[in-house]
Amino acid sequence: MSIRIIGTGSALPEHQVTNDDLAQMVDTSDEWIKERTGIGCRRISTGEGVVSLAADACRKALEDGGMEASRVELLLVATCTPEKGIPCAACQVQERLGATEAVAFDLNAACAGFLFALHTACAYVEAGIYRNALVTGSEVLSKIVDWTDRSTCVLFGDGAGAVLVERCEEGGILAFVQHSDGTKGDVLRCDGRPLSNPYVDIPAEAPFVQMDGREVFAFAVRKVPASIEEALGKAGLQVEDVDLFVLHQANRRILEGIAKRLGADMGRFAMNLDRVGNMSSAAIPVLLDELNRAGRLKRGMKLVLAGFGAGLTYGTSVLQW
Ligand code: ACO
Repeated sequence: MSIRIIGTGSALPEHQVTNDDLAQMVDTSDEWIKERTGIGCRRISTGEGVVSLAADACRKALEDGGMEASRVELLLVATCTPEKGIPCAACQVQERLGATEAVAFDLNAACAGFLFALHTACAYVEAGIYRNALVTGSEVLSKIVDWTDRSTCVLFGDGAGAVLVERCEEGGILAFVQHSDGTKGDVLRCDGRPLSNPYVDIPAEAPFVQMDGREVFAFAVRKVPASIEEALGKAGLQVEDVDLFVLHQANRRILEGIAKRLGADMGRFAMNLDRVGNMSSAAIPVLLDELNRAGRLKRGMKLVLAGFGAGLTYGTSVLQW
């Protein structure tokens, strides 16, 4: 038993920001950003929130999968940028959708969040606890980015993607692996609310995203191919058997490094980071939705999904569409 994706959806903020727009704000250029990252533009929220974007993406996934919201049994929101500490974003999305029978909660594994949420849904379904799930990754990273720091503000975008999954007897997720390395937590970090009460007042050290870009780069090109090979091994497949790699959209050069290590041609790596930038947990489901709606995903195709990011966290799913 496993889960298969029966519907996809995505939602992006209206406002598009180009590299030239950013060059008006910080000392950078379209040429530098494109050459080092592959990113051309991104969507930035001027009012859309993690909850509204996630709810829009979920509605589209439900419509695509032909399911009423009231039938959803599990609703997971992967996010590292929730609007509220409490209640969780998933409960707010549940309310907006009218998914009255769903149990709803959030999960934060940064850029690997969507994948870890998908695997959580898979485990619940395989255990016989639920029969279906709505899994979404939604981020408004623009609120935790330091817009005066050219080394990070050019990388990120806002958006949400969702998939509707249901139990299946054949195909679907064939194997998955996931890993965490908390010893490297400082490589990519953003402090939450600092400790402040009548007895103590400690200011936040890093209220905005701070990143050691070279460390993140080295981690991704070393660990992600290994996790892909591990998951393929569990599924009894080889790199050559994979029709499409749908990886976290951090940086084109990272994807090229991973492809090289795997000995796979870049033509099999789906990409949209040039248009939307790095949307953390939303990256994989938004890309999946674009591929699905473009008719590029055919039943029976073998896909590899791989996420990686702060934590450090990383993981891979091998699935049959
Ligand atoms: N425009 C112009 N110059 C810049 C910019 C910019 N936007 N950002 C940095 N620079 C400058 C630096 O100040 C530095 O200048 P200096 O030599 O005078 O000190 C120079 O460019 C080189 O800086 P590096 O940080 O060494 O540049 P690098 O080639 O490593 O590229 C980058 C930086 C793109 C961030 C790269 O390290 C990278 O891709 N890392 C991966 C990180 C990533 O993708 N993170 C996303 C979030 S994590 C995730 O999703 C997994």
